[in-house]
Amino acid sequence: MFEKLQKKWKVTGLQVLVILCTFAIGGSLTGYVGKKLMNLTGLEKGLLWVIVYIILITIIWPVAVLVVSIPFGQFTFFKKYIAKLGRRIGVGSNESGVGNGEWGVNSSILPTHDSRLTTHVAIFASGTGTNAQKLIDHFRNNAAVKISLIVCNKPGAGVLQIAAKENIPSIIIEKEKFFRGNAYIEELKSFDINFIILAGFLWKIPSALIKVYPSKIVNIHPALLPAYGGKGMYGAKVHEAVIAAGEKESGITIHYVDEIYDHGKIIFQAKCDVLATDTPDSLAQKIHSLEHQHFPLVMEQLLIK
Ligand code: GAR
Repeated sequence: MFEKLQKKWKVTGLQVLVILCTFAIGGSLTGYVGKKLMNLTGLEKGLLWVIVYIILITIIWPVAVLVVSIPFGQFTFFKKYIAKLGRRIGVGSNESGVGNGEWGVNSSILPTHDSRLTTHVAIFASGTGTNAQKLIDHFRNNAAVKISLIVCNKPGAGVLQIAAKENIPSIIIEKEKFFRGNAYIEELKSFDINFIILAGFLWKIPSALIKVYPSKIVNIHPALLPAYGGKGMYGAKVHEAVIAAGEKESGITIHYVDEIYDHGKIIFQAKCDVLATDTPDSLAQKIHSLEHQHFPLVMEQLLIK
């Protein structure tokens, strides 16, 4: 029975136990609070009492379960579970719930993972991997999102050490196979990957891969696209170009990946000042802190509906 639940919820055996405990304690708490509130109403036991009690516990249950899930570290799982239940009975919306003015999420292009409670993410990275590390840290105890694979095109890149330290499988990809072979689609499928995050990945994504993962590949770019994007615009080169042009501000762009370099639908942007005293290095530091601050949260909003 546990195995069935494990598969259904896409969680580990231990998590199934914790989730079941949360259900049990949340249910008991609901009954307890429900009875206390019924006593306050002063209603006589009878049909009306039963109807009011049922309404009360229907309202209390999701709240109780969510509260109990916090100390058990399963809040994200239950948030998603309850949202799904709500949608089934026609309560709640299918929107992403992203409402901050800086956000531009179009719900029609959001990934749809409703049928799978865990999104298995592959991070593609070519460099140091500080963004990859932030994403791994952010989703570490999250039942809904698992960083299942690191994909790298550079042997010796820092991100590979991060993968080893974090016990996350990694693969080093080769140009020929990526662009003219199967684009590593079979390998990604073998890890159940259903979402790809590019965190400092410097190769263009082949259209074969985009077709298999439509609106499910997101990139972070260290400038305010559409400016300072395109082929050859990565890392320090972007910051050098921004400073050389005398820009007063720069920033980060998180966007969907399409067939054109740095072109897909923009999901999020954040800005920072470029001072006259800034160098490519100092600007890179500002950009990195913006990325670390926002990237994991933006991805959470996108992946957990
Ligand atoms: C990040 O700044 C990212 O925006 C950039 O590479 C850096 C990787 O840093 N990506 C691009 O330039 C893509 N065109 P990290 O390895 O420390 O995460």
